[in-house]
Amino acid sequence: MATTLLDGIGLLVTNDPALGDGSPLGEISGAAMIADSGGQVLWVGPAPAAPSADSRIDLDGRCVVPGFVDSHAHLVFAGDRSGEFAARMAGTPYAAGGIRTTVAATRAAPDELLGLNLARLVRELRRQGTTTVEIKSGYGLTVTDEARALALAAEHTDETTYLGAHVVPAEYESDPAAYVDLVTGPMLDACAPYARWIDVFCETGAFDADAARAVLTAGLGRGLGARVHANQLGPGPGVQLACELGAASADHCTFLDDADVAALAGSGTVATLLPGVEFSTRSPYPDARRLLAAGVTVALATDCNPGSSFTSSMPFCVALAVREMRMTPAEALWAATAGGAAALRRTDVGRLSPGARADLAVLEAPSYVHLAYRPGVPLVADTWIGGGPF
Ligand code: NIG
Ligand code: FE
Repeated sequence: MATTLLDGIGLLVTNDPALGDGSPLGEISGAAMIADSGGQVLWVGPAPAAPSADSRIDLDGRCVVPGFVDSHAHLVFAGDRSGEFAARMAGTPYAAGGIRTTVAATRAAPDELLGLNLARLVRELRRQGTTTVEIKSGYGLTVTDEARALALAAEHTDETTYLGAHVVPAEYESDPAAYVDLVTGPMLDACAPYARWIDVFCETGAFDADAARAVLTAGLGRGLGARVHANQLGPGPGVQLACELGAASADHCTFLDDADVAALAGSGTVATLLPGVEFSTRSPYPDARRLLAAGVTVALATDCNPGSSFTSSMPFCVALAVREMRMTPAEALWAATAGGAAALRRTDVGRLSPGARADLAVLEAPSYVHLAYRPGVPLVADTWIGGGPF
């Protein structure tokens, strides 16, 4: 197998505390890395100690970080909701009901259009350094439209999530229990072959604790892993349910009480924070410092969707986490890489140490601190997926 030496790395973030300076990010200054053509990291260390390789690329002092792991994105949809956004900026509050607008546009869209929209968003996020992305269904809400969304998502990622329980669609308004039966029955049958995960929007106006439990339990029974949209718009049972059922992640975590924080701290459930939502809905940000102080594993993700957070940019979310949620640049970078990997229960991504996938972002900057220090600047010079530029 051919090998490539990435030389002249000004600062390498490995996310392996056993490497480098002993910090959680495992930083190595003046570093080099060798990857093979199969897409694996073979060696990392100080540049002068690098073994030889078949080819060499000089990065001229740039910073290299593990590729971002965006563990929460809704990318299969048609239409946009820029009108809703403009109204919100003029004072109309965000409400989950807007999801139905996108459901109508998505159902009406031909396969080809949905596929093109999705491919465009995936290209967009890769250009910004994301190397692993989770993609949810949830804008179809019929058996065929949910299965169609997941089949399309599976063309781009292994991290596919069945979110038939996003909201109750209009045609089931008068009988939400029948919709839960559909989601846990024929819709699950059609979607499970394309999905790794099952998710539910556990919130007033979407699904209550009993319905959410039924949905997650049905998915777990089919071998899917659980993740939950929890405590986004107000306090609620979502986080406790996620912890109790061993979900990989409780996402949003904006309105938490002490018992929620304690449950997360005592569980294997990651708290995934989505600050693009608070930015785009003008809502208070989650209390990241409280979660970190309690020892909770925190991830950052975009929640890219046309309603509450239409950004595909992990660097933007890192900047928000630092400037608005008081995470340090190191904590935010860890959460956007290793944290996302933990939220997807992956050990092969989110780090750059021997044996990991050579998925990385080359920054046009000497340090990852610039991701927050220079918000809005396109600092990702190159994204490597599987050992080469994507
Ligand atoms: O994660 N909370 C539920 N779902 C999305 C919003 C979807 C929409 O508004 O279209 C979210 O914020
Ligand atoms: Fe979401």
